[in-house]
Amino acid sequence: MSDEAGQGRPQLPGTDAPLVAGELVLLLDRKGRRYLVTLEPGQEWHSHAGVVAHDELIGVLEGSSVRTGRGMEVTVLRPTREDFVLKMKRGAQVVYPKDQAMIVAAADIRPGATVVEAGAGSGALTLALLAAVGPNGHVVSFEHREDHAAVARRNVQRFLGEQPDNWRLELGDVVDHLGELRAHRVVLDLLEPWKVVAAAAAALPPGGIVLAYTPGVPQVMRFCDTLGEDGRFGDIRTFETLLRPWDVDGLAVRPAHRMVAHTAFLTTARRFPATAEGGPRRRRRKSDAFGRIDWAASDATRPTDGQ
Ligand SMILES: C[S@@+](CC[C@H](N)C(=O)[O-])C[C@H]1O[C@@H](n2cnc3c(N)ncnc32)[C@H](O)[C@@H]1O
Repeated sequence: MSDEAGQGRPQLPGTDAPLVAGELVLLLDRKGRRYLVTLEPGQEWHSHAGVVAHDELIGVLEGSSVRTGRGMEVTVLRPTREDFVLKMKRGAQVVYPKDQAMIVAAADIRPGATVVEAGAGSGALTLALLAAVGPNGHVVSFEHREDHAAVARRNVQRFLGEQPDNWRLELGDVVDHLGELRAHRVVLDLLEPWKVVAAAAAALPPGGIVLAYTPGVPQVMRFCDTLGEDGRFGDIRTFETLLRPWDVDGLAVRPAHRMVAHTAFLTTARRFPATAEGGPRRRRRKSDAFGRIDWAASDATRPTDGQ
């Protein structure tokens, strides 16, 4: 990345400054296809729509259009975080922007907070958490796979232009290390969040929030079951977010034909003191699953996905 006199450092989209060499840009074609490109003097961008010289884009304002050698119009913009996350290189499945926004809201992640997340995966959620905690907050991301950690680090550096001082990426199992930390929030996007419940209780002061992002119903059940059995969590809620895009074109205004129908469920819980330490009595649920489901037997039949 070019960095002479600050050149190539990522700028906020909408900043009143021409594009410079080294910047990451988004190219939009007439069909709405989107491409991420780093501007380099002398280089060319090739697609089936034709070729554009990077030099034609360096020095123009966001929103400017150029034509490829084949006459296709291409518009250049600085990428938003959403643009970046949807196009960046992935090691693991990312948390999509609709869920990132709900995670930030439901876990009340705000400026100055310390958030522990696991696993870092591709770093998509990491970017949302870093934005939400701001420069005075801290994010600690655990990732037990070296290859995924490398992708997460690269994506964060590519989007922010540096590895921020308030972000620590730890290579290792969150279960082994979380209990040694203190955090306001614990955000879990991993296969078996119930394994992290005891460590999350150790890391969170009373009032703190743990959130798990889980694609399947049995994962939600087991996470809630474990939170209940632990006895140090309450105000447990589960929900999902459906985002339905609409096409708006003249009088043709209707829901888009396609939508992502399901991503994952979000479960949040507040850390309470245990009953013996002044916390509320454990709530009995009508159809309590505690102790009724043989999770060990279910483990034996469940396929693993290498995570
Ligand atoms: C679905 S991905 C996370 C994606 C990430 N939230 C994002 O938006 O890019 C799950 C990640 O958790 C990691 N993981 C699973 N169990 C873990 C554990 N116990 N400790 C640390 N990382 C873990 C996996 O290696 C994987 O990279």
